Amino acid sequence: MRSYKAKAVTPIRLPDREGRIEALDAAGHNVFNLDSDAVYVDLLTDSGTGTMSDEQWAALMRGDEAYAGSSSFARLQSAVSDVMGFEHVIPTHQGRGAENVVYGSLLEEGDVVLNNTHFDTTRAHVANQGAEAVDCPVEGAWDREATGEFLGNFDVAQGREIADEVGAERIPVVVTTITNNSAAGQPVSLANIRETAELADELDAWFVVDACRFAENAHFVKEREPGQGDRALADIAREQLSYADAITMSGKKDALVNIGGFAAIRDDDLFERAKQRAILYEGFPTYGGLAGRDIEAMAVGLREAVDPPYVAERVEQVATLGELLQEAGIPIVTPTGGHAVYVDAGELLDHIPTERFPGQRLVCELYREGAVRGVELGSFAFPGADRPDYVRLAVPRRTYWREHLEHVAETAAAVREQREEYVGLEIVEEPPMKELRHFSARLEPV
Ligand code: F0G
Repeated sequence: MRSYKAKAVTPIRLPDREGRIEALDAAGHNVFNLDSDAVYVDLLTDSGTGTMSDEQWAALMRGDEAYAGSSSFARLQSAVSDVMGFEHVIPTHQGRGAENVVYGSLLEEGDVVLNNTHFDTTRAHVANQGAEAVDCPVEGAWDREATGEFLGNFDVAQGREIADEVGAERIPVVVTTITNNSAAGQPVSLANIRETAELADELDAWFVVDACRFAENAHFVKEREPGQGDRALADIAREQLSYADAITMSGKKDALVNIGGFAAIRDDDLFERAKQRAILYEGFPTYGGLAGRDIEAMAVGLREAVDPPYVAERVEQVATLGELLQEAGIPIVTPTGGHAVYVDAGELLDHIPTERFPGQRLVCELYREGAVRGVELGSFAFPGADRPDYVRLAVPRRTYWREHLEHVAETAAAVREQREEYVGLEIVEEPPMKELRHFSARLEPV
């Protein structure tokens, strides 16, 4: 049952077929190049695309825009302390700013970082320090038909093997990402977080949690982990982070804001070092690249994120989209994760070889058929990586209704009907950095 109602709305329009075809051509078959006006249901990302509450909008007005010592910062500190259990906070412009501040303070050339699965920006910040990012996902994390309650877990045994190979002294940081975005948004169990913290301790490494979707993860722990069902969601949310030496946070996810992030750090010395780096890259450490009003909204959003009815509905909405797609015969990763449904485009369009980007073709057809925007996370976005050709349909928080999800499923069903007619794509124009090509490359059918 919905525990909120709309107070402000944004009109959206479904362009006619001709308009959609024109828009897709003009965008070079890359939905990052589309104007958002031309999109009807936008599932490109759940990052910064959600709806704020009236309390958050009211808090904006309270924003204290002082350069130093802003009272908005004090309210963020208090929210982070209550909700996440950290006293030292550094606001940043978004999650990757927090990654820069933390990993820039901890890593040196030649280091190795272990993570259940690095998100792209995390991997890039590790690489930017000259360090190597190594993933330790559990068996089945990439298998769409694997069953498991916590497929986002960190494979601790694998982490230990890698440490034996490279030497513990080369691993200053162990990370776990909750939920595991790059493994289809699958959750991580509390027991696994504890074991990963123990591994970090054994290696004498810092333990960092990428907490972007910590509230959604806590919901899964409560639902699925033995012995957790009777606990308060907020307690579980806090316990998950209690094992960490530091957290990086994108407020655009589970702090329910459109922009913002922060790092939180336990150790006094590391906090001081990170603050210096924050001054260089983000801004004075009581505003960190954000307006005071943005910080206010984030402080309120963090508390709302651990409200049980909100988070239960949020995760259930994603599951509903998954069910509707399955009813329409679309192959998806199950169980669905916390923020998105991952469609196996390689399977749906199995006549298109991976080098012709079946995922990108599916993304284009979802747009052409119903002005639905998703994102390719396969051979187009990750050239050379051994990943399945998945398309992610990420659900913005508190934004769409069941009717929108039904439209997505109907669109996908229509695409499935015509799947044999679709041909692959080739890149005709791309930027110099291959890793970033999916954001701007142009493609043509072949
Ligand atoms: N970590 C994870 C797990 C993320 O999913 C993201 C962003 C970040 C860090 C970086 O945060 O965008 O605020 O700088 N994920 C978005 C997505 C972009 O679409 O999944 P940011």
